[in-house]
Amino acid sequence: MIIIGHRGAAGFEPENTIASFNKAIDLGVEMIEVDVQLCKSGELVVIHDYSLQRTTNGNGLVINKTLAELKKLDAGNGQKIPTLGETLQFIDGRVAINIELKGRPNSKQIAGVVKHFIENGNWEKDDFIVSSFNHGELHKFHKLMPEIKIGLLYETISNDFHKTASALNAFSINADFNFLTGEIVEEIHSKNYRVYAYTVNKTTDKQRMKDFGVDGIFTDFP
Ligand code: G3P
Ligand code: CA
Repeated sequence: MIIIGHRGAAGFEPENTIASFNKAIDLGVEMIEVDVQLCKSGELVVIHDYSLQRTTNGNGLVINKTLAELKKLDAGNGQKIPTLGETLQFIDGRVAINIELKGRPNSKQIAGVVKHFIENGNWEKDDFIVSSFNHGELHKFHKLMPEIKIGLLYETISNDFHKTASALNAFSINADFNFLTGEIVEEIHSKNYRVYAYTVNKTTDKQRMKDFGVDGIFTDFP
């Protein structure tokens, strides 16, 4: 079972910041998960909420701020909101990355950045998984970059998950761990998808996921 650092190592450092990614790598994760959305000036920034309130000293919506405005904010312990490019530059292929698409349609911009780093850095195409609850946006991304692995995010697994997943040639089903059972994991495996469970923080839950046979857990405490 692989360990995926959720928003980096969000239990130890401000989530979705370089300090958090650094901590996750220090702790030996196999993969880091980040949330990515567009800001007003068109760059991709790494932040979970649409509003700035919870994780920064700013307020208002990310989509209404330019990158220059966002860069003035403190995202915790003096950390700045990173762009996707800065994040990929920092991690530099040392561990894999799960990019979760959030907010306004951004598959085209994500594809551009991913392509750039595969062509110009230490990143390989296999180091990436792109996921989203927005399955329509995943379709758009898959059309642009069919060689990149797709993770289908579910809050609750729908009965027809295989229909959606096969159309996307999905690699993994990324599911809320609260709704997983051994039977569901088996069913997903029988269709040849990996199962990644989010967000698993307690030791007892980590063990339960292992017993169910899940392939990886997203955790704030890697
Ligand atoms: O990608 C797994 C998990 O991060 C999805 O939920 O709300 O934490 O982005 P959320
Ligand atoms: Ca996420």
